[in-house]
Amino acid sequence: MTEAAKPESERRKFRAIKGTRDILPPDSALWNWFEKTARSVMESFNFGEIRTPIFEETELFARAIGADTDVVAKEVFTLQARPESVQRAELLREAIHRIGDVKHELRVTRLLQHLTVFVRYLQIALQQGHLPKDAANLHNVGLLERGLKEAGQLWKSGSTQPESYWNGLFEKVKRIADDIRFESAERTSGVSELDLEPTASLRPEATASVVRAYVEHRLDTRPGDQKLYYIGPMFRRERPQKGRYRQFYQIGAEVLGTSDAPAIDAELIEMLTVLLERCQIEKYTLLINSIGCADCRPKYVELLRAELRKPEIFERLGADSKRRVETNPLRVMDSKLPEEQEIIDTKLPKISEHLCADCKTHYEKLKKELRLRAVPFTESPRLVRGLDYYMRTTFEITSPILGAQNALCGGGRYDGLVELLGGPKGIKGIGFALGEDRFIDAIQEARLGEQATKIHAVRPVDVFVAWMGERAYPTAVRLARVLRGEKHAVELPPEELKFRKALERADKMGARYVLIIGDDEIASGQLTVKRLADGKQEKIAEEAVVDYFRGAR
Ligand code: HAM
Repeated sequence: MTEAAKPESERRKFRAIKGTRDILPPDSALWNWFEKTARSVMESFNFGEIRTPIFEETELFARAIGADTDVVAKEVFTLQARPESVQRAELLREAIHRIGDVKHELRVTRLLQHLTVFVRYLQIALQQGHLPKDAANLHNVGLLERGLKEAGQLWKSGSTQPESYWNGLFEKVKRIADDIRFESAERTSGVSELDLEPTASLRPEATASVVRAYVEHRLDTRPGDQKLYYIGPMFRRERPQKGRYRQFYQIGAEVLGTSDAPAIDAELIEMLTVLLERCQIEKYTLLINSIGCADCRPKYVELLRAELRKPEIFERLGADSKRRVETNPLRVMDSKLPEEQEIIDTKLPKISEHLCADCKTHYEKLKKELRLRAVPFTESPRLVRGLDYYMRTTFEITSPILGAQNALCGGGRYDGLVELLGGPKGIKGIGFALGEDRFIDAIQEARLGEQATKIHAVRPVDVFVAWMGERAYPTAVRLARVLRGEKHAVELPPEELKFRKALERADKMGARYVLIIGDDEIASGQLTVKRLADGKQEKIAEEAVVDYFRGAR
């Protein structure tokens, strides 16, 4: 039996995929109102709109946001141009390259961790036939397996090898990893261009794309700072709950240029507060912090790690934080676990007390600039943010009306990202993104929502054209077009309705006027207009209809 022939109850129904949703009228009117308001605020600060693709090379996100962050490691939706095992292996290869110049012990721990998973994915890819089983690949995977085994045992046994041994191993692993070939000969010779493209992922955020576009289009050659904003959907494979979706919407702004003047940071934050004010959201807190720079942050991180390793602290940490002591101790500051709160607040060193002189001055000036703009703020030494590109200023706006997912927006400075993505040296950047879904909740909560929705919902139709009889129809079609040209919202029923039915429908739609065209009206050239608010009815000449409704706005 065909699907259509089955009774309705047996026909397959589709639902929006978990973590995604539809935005329907009249809610969509509120979304449009909000976007219009945000555009107007940002344009008043001289920002121009940038639109970037919603998918980009996976490596762009790995490099910009950090291969080790939750967003890239767990939440990115990758388009299946390549099998999962190959994608993961590629990400890990990038992560190994990015381990960077950290303290010896940490470097070895990270190398061993990444290498373990890298080798596992390579083995899976080989098994499933997704990695060419040629002599070179088999040899290289074998080398990595043996190297990992030996190094793992050495390290566990409390290695006495000199640092140079591990440095040598590190370089060797990078070289061998680079020699692994992911494309098979048949695949590359075999046709589909799509297969040859690098893997692509749906964007989990847009800063990486904006910076990519800045570099690609040489926006640094344009005069002055580039002030760009964007509005659009982002995608993260998170556990869905209220305020957290897998497709969500952000409105964001980025400033890119040669200056890192704290006034830029402050103006950006001021712009957000103007938007909050326009939306009549009063219950919010602006949190600010400085997370230092490449000079002072590594020293602080080591200090923090040493503190976290102390048994009296370490034993009180949850499993995630225990792991992060080695992988990314800054993120411990971010933990929401109730039993860790006291430790974080009272026992751990604060980054603000360990900033270098330049970062300290920058942070002090930022606070001064915010005061100058009468923007109230709360300093939060715990605000470290979850993406790797940040340095110095970080900020977030939270609202108690949102519940567990209380961040309305977040942002910060990312000097160095342009360079990391292949752009010119010395370009600084700062930006934010606000969660539109959460802003809409907050607006609704702040009551303005009701008003804003009503503005659209109560007045979706200005003129309902109630036509009766075949002779009236051509006039109705013509007048509907003329009135729509005048920007009135006009409803023209596609089929003739009895007079009473037409009035009922106009009423249900919340129409303001009913333009009645029947045989009598056609014969006399005098149309009837009924105002639904008070039932007042009058006759107007057909030629006067446009003027009449202009005056009725
Ligand atoms: P983010 O903190 O990851 O920053 O996200 C910004 C905002 O997007 C959050 O504060 C939240 O309101 C919203 N958001 C994030 N994930 C979800 C989700 N799953 N569901 C609903 N809303 C969500 C960034 O994305 C950075 N690119 C911000 C930035 C721009 N930094 C510098 N420039």
